[in-house]
Parts: sequence; structure tokens; C-alpha cells
Amino acid sequence: MHEDLSNNRKTYQKSALSEDTISDNPLELFRKWYYEVEAQGSIEEPNAMTLATNGLDGFPKARTVLLKKYTYEGFIFYTNYESEKGLAIAEDPKVCLCFYWPVMERQIIIKGKAEKLAENLSDGYFESRPDGSKLGAIVSPQSQVIPSREYLDNELDKLEKEYVNKEIERPPYWGGFMVRPESMEFWQGRPNRLHDRIRYSLQPDYNWKIERLAP
Ligand SMILES: Cc1cc2nc3c(=O)[nH]c(=O)nc-3n(C[C@H](O)[C@H](O)[C@H](O)COP(=O)(O)O)c2cc1C
Repeated sequence: MHEDLSNNRKTYQKSALSEDTISDNPLELFRKWYYEVEAQGSIEEPNAMTLATNGLDGFPKARTVLLKKYTYEGFIFYTNYESEKGLAIAEDPKVCLCFYWPVMERQIIIKGKAEKLAENLSDGYFESRPDGSKLGAIVSPQSQVIPSREYLDNELDKLEKEYVNKEIERPPYWGGFMVRPESMEFWQGRPNRLHDRIRYSLQPDYNWKIERLAP
């Protein structure tokens, strides 16, 4: 096979990123960009982000997860703690998150350490999920090899019967991670490949250093 994509060229010209207009805190710039992409309305899941971990097999691995909350402290997503990513984070909490919002010609790369969310917070979020999603989280041994699709459907059937009129509690192997950012890099596409890149790095005194990077 030979598929040549080298002529797929696009000119980026929607916006610019300047040191003069940005906040001292990258979470505020994140929020501004997030609001703008939401308001724009054409991205179905602007909270979908790529999460890269350092794998137990020595390879980095990236996959999509959904951002469910962010605060000045960090970025929260939910998953199975015994999944490939869960085990990788337990061994090495250093992770990278990446958002790409083509409609705004923007990318944000976040490096930080992931830590398990307090149990009561994971309980609260689990409680808010529809019953089907709760049972899905219980029934799926995420990232493990399973014999067939039927196996999963049968297990779900059994669980649905078991949980009729019974409260569905969060299993201990499922919950949230909070990624506490140490570096956040904002990329705004610009004409002629001379894009704007601004990186915030967390300093020992908890202030953020702001630097411009070459595109
Ligand atoms: C749009 C989208 C959103 C997803 N959101 C999540 C999520 O929030 N949590 C999660 O565990 N997996 C989510 N997944 C599935 C993951 O990408 C991945 O397949 C799964 O977590 C297993 O990854 P692992 O084997 O590397 O641990 C999502 C996938 C897509 C495409």
C-alpha cells in the first residue's frame, strides 16, 4: 500500500496567542479556551483528551479518555484502576494529556502526575452515572482478554438480574485520577507554520514560569 498524504496542507489563521493577554495561571487560559471551543459548538466531545502513560512493557501508550472535571488543582478522569493505564500509573504516575481542537486550531499538552482521587469523590461521581454505565464498569475487566462479545453480554445479563432493586455500589477497582499539572503548553496555529507556542512550567514556589517556544 502507498497512500501519500503529503499534499494535505492547511493554513492556520483563526487566532493568535500573545504573552500580553494571557493569565498568570494556565488553568485560567485552559478554561478560556475550553469555553471558546464549547461555544463554537461543532466539537461533539471537547472534553475528549489523549492520555499517555509510561507502560509496564516499556512502551509509551496513548488512548482517549474523557475529562470530567478540572479545578486549579488539576484534571480529573475516571477509569478502571486495574486496566493497562491504571497499572501503568500505579508504577509511574507521570502522564501526559493532550487536547486537539481543530476547529479552533488549538492544542494543549499537559504533563503532570496522576493520583487516585479521594474515595468519596469517586463514589459521588459513580453515584451520578446511569445504572447501565455503573453495571458496565462493574462487568468489564478493562484491558483483559475476554473470550467473546457474548461473554460480556451474558455477564451483563446476570448482573442486571442480580441488581434488580439493589443499590449499585462503586467497585473498588474503578474510580478517578486527578492529574496535577507541572507543565502546560498551549499551541495556536498560525500562518506559514510559524505557530504560537506558550509553555507554563510550575516553579518550586508554585508560581508559573511562562516561556515562548519555537514552533
Ligand atoms: C471518545 C472516547 C472516550 C473514552 N473515555 C474513556 C474514559 O473516560 N475512561 C476510560 O477508562 N476509557 C475511556 N475510553 C476508552 C479508552 O480509550 C481505552 O480503550 C480504555 O480506557 C482502555 O485503555 P487501556 O487498556 O490503555 O487502560 C474512551 C474512548 C474514546 C474513544
